[in-house]
Amino acid sequence: MNYVDAIDAPLERDGSIKLHGPEGFAGMRKAGRLAAECLDMLVPLVKPGVSTEELDRAAFEFVVNNGGVPACLGYRGYQHTTCTSINHVVCHGIPSPKPLKDGDVVNIDVTVIVDGWHGDTSRMYPVGEINRRAERLVQITYDSLMLGIAQVKPGNTTGDIGHAIQKFAEGQRCSVVTDFCGHGLGRLFHDAPNILHVGRPGQGEVLKEGMFFTIEPMINLGKPTVKILSDGWTAVTRDRKLTAQFEHSIGVTKEGCEIFTLSPAELHHPPYA
Ligand code: MF3
Ligand code: CO
Ligand code: CO
Repeated sequence: MNYVDAIDAPLERDGSIKLHGPEGFAGMRKAGRLAAECLDMLVPLVKPGVSTEELDRAAFEFVVNNGGVPACLGYRGYQHTTCTSINHVVCHGIPSPKPLKDGDVVNIDVTVIVDGWHGDTSRMYPVGEINRRAERLVQITYDSLMLGIAQVKPGNTTGDIGHAIQKFAEGQRCSVVTDFCGHGLGRLFHDAPNILHVGRPGQGEVLKEGMFFTIEPMINLGKPTVKILSDGWTAVTRDRKLTAQFEHSIGVTKEGCEIFTLSPAELHHPPYA
């Protein structure tokens, strides 16, 4: 990092939305690729009988053996490389020794740091055979993420992103979780702006070339309300109905956006076979 970048990149949130140049895009490309490769690596490992703790260990080994640092490890006291959110767990599920069962659907969310840059991404993984309602929710959630991403270009707003996601998901008789949102990232894990997954066209922050943030909609089959379990992390749907999430890290370009966490193996969404 040269002197000019150092003063442009405070290591604590200061509320400003940072605008990055070619060096930032190059850094995010590497970090995003490693995070996506980690999710690719996990695809054949997710099956009935495996525990999320074993998957987390595989993710840890993969990240550190490929020049990355797991960003979640030690983050606000969190002790794992991944979050593994099963069925009605909305996000921040903690890897555990309990084996996955046929018919479960699990979100695996990984964030890696490479050369100081953060790549943050998650996908849904079916465990064995899943039912059609689960399949449908997973596809709706993936589609809502990609519709949100399609709104990203200079001059559009964060409200345009949220609106596209909300309009589509609610049109499919699903609900959008509002207790968690996407976030700016770069040299920081969680930074301005907040990316709400609901909104009104034209409202919120105006997008500018060089902004980096995640979009990570959580979509429910039932009501949008969540609660946090006594472990202080695990967020579940209050009605215990199914929920799903996908996440990409992206950068705003002159024309639109670049997705830093696209799957190199083209394992974008299930079915992965
Ligand atoms: N990766 C999550 C996100 O999308 C954050 C996990 S924080 C942790 O922002 F501490 F739980 F790992
Ligand atoms: Co995120
Ligand atoms: Co994440």
